[in-house]
Amino acid sequence: MRVAELSGAIGETVEIRGWVTSLRKSGKIRFLALRDGSGRVQAVVRETEVDPATWEGTARLSQETSVIVHGLCRADERAPGGVELDLTEVQIVGESEDYPIQPKEHGVDFLLDLRHLWLRSGRQAAIMRVRHTFEHGIREFLDREGFIGADTPILTPSACEGTTTLFETTYFDQKAYLSQSGQLYNEALAMALGKVYCFGPAFRAERSKTRRHLIEFWMVEPEMAFCDLDGCMEVEERMLSFVLERVAKRCPEELRLLGRDPEELRQVRPPFPRISYDEAIELLRQDGIDLPWGEDFGAPHEAAISSHFNLPVFVHRYPAVAKAFYMQPDPERPEVVLGADLLAPEGYGEIVGGGQRIDDYQLLLRRLQEQNLPVADYEWYLDLRRYGSVPHSGFGLGIERTLAWILRLEHVREAIPFPRMLYRLRP
Ligand code: 4AD
Ligand code: MG
Repeated sequence: MRVAELSGAIGETVEIRGWVTSLRKSGKIRFLALRDGSGRVQAVVRETEVDPATWEGTARLSQETSVIVHGLCRADERAPGGVELDLTEVQIVGESEDYPIQPKEHGVDFLLDLRHLWLRSGRQAAIMRVRHTFEHGIREFLDREGFIGADTPILTPSACEGTTTLFETTYFDQKAYLSQSGQLYNEALAMALGKVYCFGPAFRAERSKTRRHLIEFWMVEPEMAFCDLDGCMEVEERMLSFVLERVAKRCPEELRLLGRDPEELRQVRPPFPRISYDEAIELLRQDGIDLPWGEDFGAPHEAAISSHFNLPVFVHRYPAVAKAFYMQPDPERPEVVLGADLLAPEGYGEIVGGGQRIDDYQLLLRRLQEQNLPVADYEWYLDLRRYGSVPHSGFGLGIERTLAWILRLEHVREAIPFPRMLYRLRP
């Protein structure tokens, strides 16, 4: 049986397999805190109820010893899960001496060096459970909406998001790059299947040491044929609110542990506010921040803009010079593109980037040339505009950045099991 199922087993004798998180002794009675990955429970050992060998054995239990225990599951109103165990048998599976992470404050570098053990802590395990629920919810939403999940390659010959952050590797005797985004391949798949998504790791060799940059992060990227910028933003807001509702419903305990009231997530409902880049520049000016037109926003700008709203806010129609080569210019104002970033509230900044793609062959060719990209490597991508091109749109939602916001994390490094950062490749 798993700890999470104990509330349905009151009055039964159960077996739990897990780890000891702490031991408290008080004369002829000992209190074990146990966890098994699904939850935590307190177990009581009484000298009068167990054989002498078991009683002796429990004296040696230390933090993170793995055990198999048997005992009676009893209702206890004061206990966190509403139950407690009266143990009759304790079997030690694996000993644990001098566990390095103690129940006290540790520095974050120390904890990151021990990430393989740190994940066992209640807080970190809660984050991973929310991450799972979040990703599962995304797949569920997209499946219900008729999207086909398709997996795009990790080893690629060319750039999607600018050449400065390419992660170079070798592919036998050729150069290759780890994927920055599955978007270009998704566009091909959308012309085959209508609505598709990829969900995978993305790699950016960014020399940024900030609280929102990872070198390897996860991104879900839906792509839709016959869809414009407005249609794209509608899917984004519906997807996000669906998933937040799902997390609020399935992970209320985890959310509370992390300092987020589930009700707050339920309030994140469409429509989200939409402002243009120009309007955002004006908001910044009112806040006393002057940014020359044409420049992309940095973290402080995004925080300032989003502070004007309670919901995530779309900023659309960025200057073309600030965005990627594939973005469709606004026919009414070609100096801006039909792209939008979604900025999270509470200062967390951009969590989604997306928009409408160029569908005209000549224009796309020109853009590639202007950006000095090797056109030969993009011939297949140009083919999508040679054969039955259609307006199409898509977006990429960064999993860690979105989780950091939902879970009020100080840094995206806690939102992924084993973070890859500028100065961290291990463990
Ligand atoms: O805005 P980005 O670069 O957009 C794309 O990659 C598009 N090709 C997506 C698409 O339209 N299919 O990245 C999308 C999101 C960002 O909004 C952010 O949440 C996340 O990916 N992201 C990062 N997360 C962590 N660390 C990094 N270094 C990130 N770079 C982007
Ligand atoms: Mg972006």
